[in-house]
Amino acid sequence: MVHAIPSADIEAMLSDLAVSARRTPEAYLAAARATLVRILSRPELLDPSRLVGRGEGLSRNLLFGTEAISVWAMVWAPGAMTPVHDHHCSCCFGLLRGSLRETWYRPISDTHAMATQDAVREPGFVACMLPTGPKLHRIANDGPEAAVSIHVYGYDHRAQETSIHRTYAVAAG
Ligand SMILES: [Fe+2]
Repeated sequence: MVHAIPSADIEAMLSDLAVSARRTPEAYLAAARATLVRILSRPELLDPSRLVGRGEGLSRNLLFGTEAISVWAMVWAPGAMTPVHDHHCSCCFGLLRGSLRETWYRPISDTHAMATQDAVREPGFVACMLPTGPKLHRIANDGPEAAVSIHVYGYDHRAQETSIHRTYAVAAG
């Protein structure tokens, strides 16, 4: 994990977002979506050294963190893939560069899940969700280029290691 020093503009945007985390979940998610759209429209505000991966797999670079939210630049090497997982907190992400495949799953037990739908996310895509209900997904970079996404999670990175609540094995279909 690498700690980044974001530009003053990004810092101000994310500080405002952290304050809005005290509002209703719906108001907070709307603010998180708007903030991600603004960041994706002005990628020059991000320190480019924080948008570079380290080796294979998924590299996580912390951009901002408070007790309410943590914001990460995730760099996905070709072939990088999360486990099938759900979240214990709100989860918003936007794609800055490259493409990522997001697959949704239906849990069939506490340990296994089956794929239900699948979409390729392109730069500019933003998704926001609350942890209510079973919301299982997997994100993978199955393209030839590295991909970069910005994630805003409703957890304190100093208190918890990850936004993941539980991981699942893929059931044979
Ligand atoms: Fe996720």
